Amino acid sequence: MKATNIVWSDGYLTSTDFEKRFKQKGCVIWFTGLSGSGKSTISERVQKELFEMGHIVYVLDGDNVRHGLNKDLGFSPDDRVENIRRIGEVAKLFRQAGIIVLTAFISPYRKDRDTVREIMDEGSFLEVYVEADIETCKKRDPKGLYEKAIAGKIPEFTGISAPYEEPLKPELTVDTNGETVEQSARHVIDLLKSRKII
Ligand code: ADX
Repeated sequence: MKATNIVWSDGYLTSTDFEKRFKQKGCVIWFTGLSGSGKSTISERVQKELFEMGHIVYVLDGDNVRHGLNKDLGFSPDDRVENIRRIGEVAKLFRQAGIIVLTAFISPYRKDRDTVREIMDEGSFLEVYVEADIETCKKRDPKGLYEKAIAGKIPEFTGISAPYEEPLKPELTVDTNGETVEQSARHVIDLLKSRKII
């Protein structure tokens, strides 16, 4: 921490007040997986379904957040650590406001994801591994980035020239090699029900 002379202040309202009003538990659904694995697509689908059910829900997405809050960050290991640290803190604030936050970041390092888990209240961080083989992602290549990375035009590209560490004990794995977006979204919503978040 750089700042000194700062004092934490609690407001009148707690997360429980927000949760009672919104009839849901605030939580963070943390999607992780390779670029092109389906994180954004599945999180958008879950957001739409939850919204239609009347829930207060919001997606934080890697490419979007990098246009604003994190536009000073690139893809070096240090920048990726900082990217995930900031998103973790933002997601925590959303959660405290009783919102269901869906985050869609590669978040390639296990340690960084675990650090976010540690700053959340017990049970309010649910890690979802969006599993897709690198071959599947290369074939999909929705943004044409794998082609560029393989040609050496994008340095430190996850899965090609930078690492991805699979989760060891995610709350849920959705295998997008074999299942549809609708099926994956259904698994996520079932998880929220089984954890009594909705
Ligand atoms: S993370 O590794 O720091 O979690 P984040 O999810 O924010 O990554 O951003 C990943 C997105 O940035 C990818 O989906 C892709 O569109 C784009 N991107 C551009 N360069 C790279 C790179 N070197 N490695 C991975 N993704 C990249």
